[in-house]
Amino acid sequence: MTDFPTQADVLIIGAGAAGLMCASVAGKRGRSVLVLDHANKVGKKILMSGGGRCNFTNLYTAPDNFYSANPHFCKSALARYTQWDFIALVEKHGIPYHEKTLGQLFCDNKSRDIVDLLLAECREAKAQIRTRCEIQRIEPLQTTGFEVHTSLGKVVCESLVIATGGLSIPTMGATGFGYEVARQFGHSIVPTRAALVPFTLNKRSLERQQELPGTSLAVTARCGAGSFHEQMLFTHKGLSGPSVLQISSHWKEGMPVAFDLVPGLDLSEWLMEQRGKKQESFLHTVLSEFWSKKLVQFFLLRNGLQSKPLKHYGDSELRMVGEKLQTWTLIPEGTEGYRTAEVTLGGVDTNEVSSRSMESMKQPGLYFIGEVLDVTGWLGGFNFQWAWASAHAAGGEV
Ligand code: FDA
Repeated sequence: MTDFPTQADVLIIGAGAAGLMCASVAGKRGRSVLVLDHANKVGKKILMSGGGRCNFTNLYTAPDNFYSANPHFCKSALARYTQWDFIALVEKHGIPYHEKTLGQLFCDNKSRDIVDLLLAECREAKAQIRTRCEIQRIEPLQTTGFEVHTSLGKVVCESLVIATGGLSIPTMGATGFGYEVARQFGHSIVPTRAALVPFTLNKRSLERQQELPGTSLAVTARCGAGSFHEQMLFTHKGLSGPSVLQISSHWKEGMPVAFDLVPGLDLSEWLMEQRGKKQESFLHTVLSEFWSKKLVQFFLLRNGLQSKPLKHYGDSELRMVGEKLQTWTLIPEGTEGYRTAEVTLGGVDTNEVSSRSMESMKQPGLYFIGEVLDVTGWLGGFNFQWAWASAHAAGGEV
């Protein structure tokens, strides 16, 4: 497309999940909508999400699944555009999907289905989209509205929606642009950090686990107030898997993370029972009921535990074994950072944004939606549900 619109009722910066959703809702209200993105194509994060199958929502979405300095902020938008509303949209477009686990809904085919759904909705809403467009400067007009200078030309708009997401995966087009705009208009930013991100371990720990990358097991990971019962995966750099990604949202430098390696069982009690039944069996043999030989060896070594026939263990020693294996504690060296993080914690302070419309309380006509706001979901489709819900709230108002 060659001609660039010089005027729009609504200008949305960012053609990701939230931006495209907002465009379709506003366009269907009869507003003229222009969406601008600096990337070469729209919805790049959607395309790479969910391992290529986009975990587009979660059946059990509730405000408790989100982190924010202001935990009440997300309630209104989530209640007014629910997971059931997005599922209905997916069904309207005939997109096949399934529940993988824990209420997580994935496309049967490809994430592309969700991008196509959003583009079809935008077409129906007559929203215009331009990619490869750099935003140079935003100037508020004296009366109402904004003048936005871009590499493709100048646009005057009444409402300006910032949907530029967080800092995760800069190679996919992520920038801190949304935070800069927020600061320009006097907003505070809740400090950001990478979340839903693998842990890195120090050299010594990595040497000890060099046989294990690719091995996973079910654990309960705990850190601060967080506790998640899911899989943990050993990697070449440290630890990953859903339980680790989830707990990373609670972790800050220097904090210990504890893993219950046999969740849902009182291991000491169980070992005492086994001692009654299998007196001659070695500790490592009975533990192989839970883990592979490699893992048993690793966990015994890492916890300074020797394996001997069960009859040689007293109660207190079995209690100590149970305790060590159910609170295996380590301090990660760090995380893999924004390079691989799924989301960014923190962002535009929600105390300065309307929870009903997502409009700035500092600058009339300016809106923030999606991940740029200080609302971050758990792993499992919650971040997209926030993008849809916040975009829907703004789309009805802009
Ligand atoms: P999003 O990042 O989608 O879009 C922002 C847009 O703004 C981009 O198109 C970008 O190019 C554009 N932009 C940025 N800076 C700009 C600038 N300066 N000028 C112009 N345009 C600019 N969530 C989930 O619920 N289920 C899942 O399965 C996954 N999986 C997943 C995998 C991976 C690898 C990642 C990195 C993330 C996920 N997520 C996820 C998280 C989810 O992708 C994320 O929360 C949403 O995409 C956020 O939607 P937004 O629209 O806010 O930002």
